[in-house]
Amino acid sequence: KSLKSYNTFGIDCTARYFISVNTVAQLKQVLSENSSCKLFILGGGSNMLLTAPLDALVIHVNLKGIEIPKETKDEVLIKAMAGENWHEFVQYCIAHDFGGLENLSLIPGNVGTAPIQNIGAYGVELKDTLVSCNTLNIQTLEEKEFTKEECNFGYRNSIFKNEVRGQYIVTSVTFRLTKRNHKKIISYGDIQRVLAEKNIENPSIKDISDAVIAIRQSKLPDPKILGNSGSFFKNPVIELETFEQFRLKFPQAPFYEVSPIQFKIPAGWLIENAGFKGKRYGDAGVHKNQALVLVNHGNATGDEIWQLALRIQKRVFEMTGIEIEPEVNVF
Ligand code: EPU
Repeated sequence: KSLKSYNTFGIDCTARYFISVNTVAQLKQVLSENSSCKLFILGGGSNMLLTAPLDALVIHVNLKGIEIPKETKDEVLIKAMAGENWHEFVQYCIAHDFGGLENLSLIPGNVGTAPIQNIGAYGVELKDTLVSCNTLNIQTLEEKEFTKEECNFGYRNSIFKNEVRGQYIVTSVTFRLTKRNHKKIISYGDIQRVLAEKNIENPSIKDISDAVIAIRQSKLPDPKILGNSGSFFKNPVIELETFEQFRLKFPQAPFYEVSPIQFKIPAGWLIENAGFKGKRYGDAGVHKNQALVLVNHGNATGDEIWQLALRIQKRVFEMTGIEIEPEVNVF
């Protein structure tokens, strides 16, 4: 089966076997019947690059549903199943005036894959409102809840990318959202600019969501139109010594102080200054408005995108001495 419509890069890669599951019971059954098979768990397909045919059983986690297990006059606990589309879920929350996820509007992918890399944008990360994740152990088929603390969240990172990598399938995620006194995060320059342009002084969560959508649409390509996986690389965090050398050579480079001895450099700036912004090699390219995003202009293979990524990585290192690492999962 071709996975072209199941990954946002739009890579035409095949899977040996494929099944889409709609309930946790069905998921358990499929896992128990195929325990000797090589498995590949697929969510929204928005954070991966497929570079070779998958000789595996692809399980498409298509669990749907949203419920509210608990509600007070100030807050709700809201639980979404893993297969819910992330942005649609965010819009559902905004329509009900549940606050906390508005800055994460328009991020591609599904609810179930959001905790794996602790998605983040415009000053907010998933971990800020996440309460817990329900999961299924692939080997034992036992259900296990991971509390937020147990998830060990970091910048685009969690326990699911490390200690328990490949061992659990996230089946649902529960968030704590506000019903009033929303904590609005509008410090990010781009958000301030859009709100000022519209003369909005006291934004609602809908206003913030609309601003984020406008910003993302202005610089990030819509995967439905141009295949991509969002930021291809993470923003590198470098130590003081490397940073000082870097600053001598590139005094104009933007940076963000993580701690007095650690500095985050926008990978988009590094890639743009290495001359790659808007470049195209066959159908593999670098987006013209945001150099951190690699794009598939049509029929690029995963390997062509990967070769471009390696070329960028190498060039950035030669130029700056900084190593940038992929943020997407490469298979
Ligand atoms: N920049 C350039 N050239 C570029 C792109 C960026 O010089 O082509 C420089 C500019 O100085 C700009 C700065 O980089 O001010 C930061 O750019 P931007 O605000 O677009 O954010 P980013 O650091 O490139 C991160 C996340 C995005 C998230 C935005 C907004 C990562 C890897 N990426 O990008 O997340 O939407 O901040 O918060 O942390 C994603 O993970 O897929 C993603 C899109």
